[in-house]
Amino acid sequence: MDAFVIEGGRRINGRLRVNGSKNSALPIMAAVLLTDEPITLRDVPDLSDIRNMVRLLGELGVVIARETDTAGRPIFCIQTMDERASHARYDIVRTMRASICVLGPMLARRGRARVSLPGGCAIGQRPVDLHLKGLQALGARITLEDGDIIAETPPGGRLIGATMFLGGANGSTVLGTANVMSAATLAKGTTIIECAACEPEIVDLANMLNSMGARIEGAGSPRITIRGVETLRGVDHTVIPDRIEAGTLMCAAGITAGDLILDNCPLDALMAATETLEAIGVAIDPIGSGDDPMRRTCRVTRPGTLRSVQITTQPHPGFPTDLQAQFMALLCLAEGNSVVTEKIFPERFLHVAELQRMGASLVRQGATVVVTGVERLNGAPVMASDLRASAGLVLAGLAAEGTTTINRVYHIDRGYEALEHRLASLGASIRREKMTTESVPAG
Ligand code: EPZ
Repeated sequence: MDAFVIEGGRRINGRLRVNGSKNSALPIMAAVLLTDEPITLRDVPDLSDIRNMVRLLGELGVVIARETDTAGRPIFCIQTMDERASHARYDIVRTMRASICVLGPMLARRGRARVSLPGGCAIGQRPVDLHLKGLQALGARITLEDGDIIAETPPGGRLIGATMFLGGANGSTVLGTANVMSAATLAKGTTIIECAACEPEIVDLANMLNSMGARIEGAGSPRITIRGVETLRGVDHTVIPDRIEAGTLMCAAGITAGDLILDNCPLDALMAATETLEAIGVAIDPIGSGDDPMRRTCRVTRPGTLRSVQITTQPHPGFPTDLQAQFMALLCLAEGNSVVTEKIFPERFLHVAELQRMGASLVRQGATVVVTGVERLNGAPVMASDLRASAGLVLAGLAAEGTTTINRVYHIDRGYEALEHRLASLGASIRREKMTTESVPAG
């Protein structure tokens, strides 16, 4: 098992290009199941979640070749060669909840899908009832058998367009919207999804599906209309940059009082985060005019001390839950009391106890944490527990005095490509070490 060893106190300085988005790439890769024509995907990041999706699609008859373009960026050349398989097995699904994304596309195209029900997860309960509700509204017959979801199209073999409300207790669902929207592209008739997720990853998926011949309107708003078509064709699509990686790097510059230039930065998708950073005292200055608001260049600096703020996570365009842990790390060093409330995953606070081990002053009550700024954090051995919590610990380690060892960084590898190399290229002292079994804490 690998660990990161960080010597804190070095400023993050330099220039970096933001990678392609994991959370965009995963449902987009699943959507290749909607056609047997060739698909080219560009800027898919090299992550363990992506490798798991490649493995899953391989089991479902999809052949994927990885190449690089002239700039050294990854290209995936993808084609479905065999459409007989329909079972996404538990041993892959349990490694990656986003496997649920294959359900809608496989059902719509193959008439049947069997996908293992994803289990619990470190960030709390993650039900899939809304995915199933949406597909059932399209006429799917759904049963549960041996821990698997079995979905079949209605008699006639095609899903049927419908109007549905897809909101739950905590608002819209991102992957649920992706699943139902993808499935509805091949349904007979028109589908309206009300309370659809508005995340930029949904817009990216809809743009790709429309380039394949789908007829989707309204993606990015809470009401998406999909007029079903008979077939979809191949496409060449570039995945949007990763707003969460960008936001994490901004926090890295902020927490170390660094000076960072980010290229390929999706500022248009980061407004809640950048406005919060400005309020905390981290300046984000766009450089040049830039034609594409999702691919800008910007400079991140911290002119003075960090100030406390209140943050409440919300569905997009509100403050993203996937940046909550990283901002909490930053606020640990801000003057005064900050209040962080989690409205998407109310249990997503695994970083709190670990930050406390580094000297942070945090009081949690339910889904709210009060952060009282301290003058310094101290390096300590800590445990990575989920992807974004771990990113928060890396940030804390960059700013802490002394050595921080973060165990179980396979969580980080799920969502950040070569994070240690990228941060080291910006001046951080961070290295990966293999831990022996004895040195890994129990649990
Ligand atoms: C996506 O997960 C992301 N994953 C998550 O990123 C992200 O935290 C989350 O959206 C919220 O932005 C990917 O894109 C691969 P949801 P998803 O369905 O779609 C409830 C990361 O760190 N809900 O939008 O699974 C749910 O419990 C990951 O990169 C239901 O009640 O999240 C939550 O409270 C972690 N029923 C809320 O909706 C359902 O059927 C939003 O979850 C589905 C969800």
